[in-house]
Amino acid sequence: MLRVITFSFLLFCFLGSAIAGEVTYRKHIKPIWDKQCSACHDSSAPYYGEFKQAKKEFKAKMKGPRMDTYSSLIFFVGWPDSGALMRRLDDGSNTKNHKPGNMYQYLGSSDRERKKNFFQFKAWVGKGGWNLNRWKQRGDVPGVTKEQLGKIKVKY
Ligand code: HEC
Repeated sequence: MLRVITFSFLLFCFLGSAIAGEVTYRKHIKPIWDKQCSACHDSSAPYYGEFKQAKKEFKAKMKGPRMDTYSSLIFFVGWPDSGALMRRLDDGSNTKNHKPGNMYQYLGSSDRERKKNFFQFKAWVGKGGWNLNRWKQRGDVPGVTKEQLGKIKVKY
């Protein structure tokens, strides 16, 4: 009997911590980012404002906007480049044409790794916060709402 109780207790603790376990930038996202994204988005890349002014040239050099710190990364989640991270990393389940975003491919070298890392990013932003909408409406896609933005987690 004691064994059953002990086992149930351990199982309970394990499930509890798995559910409560929060995804944070420091523990989960930064290591993925270092491995998969830094080559093109590190400190040798321009910040967004500069990037936007000479997009073509930077693209040709395989440089995207710089996002090598917590604060420069969340710029692409909430505001001002609302939903950019979600649009680029989505696995296709939330995009209009059901194609993954163009940065999804960089999430890993196998399907399994890409999916795994995708779910980490998604959990970090928060399930309810994972919206692909921009700040402003574009075509028939409405702008992101304050309520949707409020669901973004992005723990440091
Ligand atoms: C091989 C180079 C390369 C890698 C690796 C790469 N990116 Fe990019 N990324 C780019 C380039 C170049 C652009 C700009 C061109 C474009 O918009 O597609 C870009 C654009 C972006 C944007 C859009 C920014 C905007 O203009 O709104 C986001 C978000 C992004 N990348 C996130 C990531 C993340 C997260 C990873 C890692 C999983 C990653 N990228 C890996 C090259 C790369």
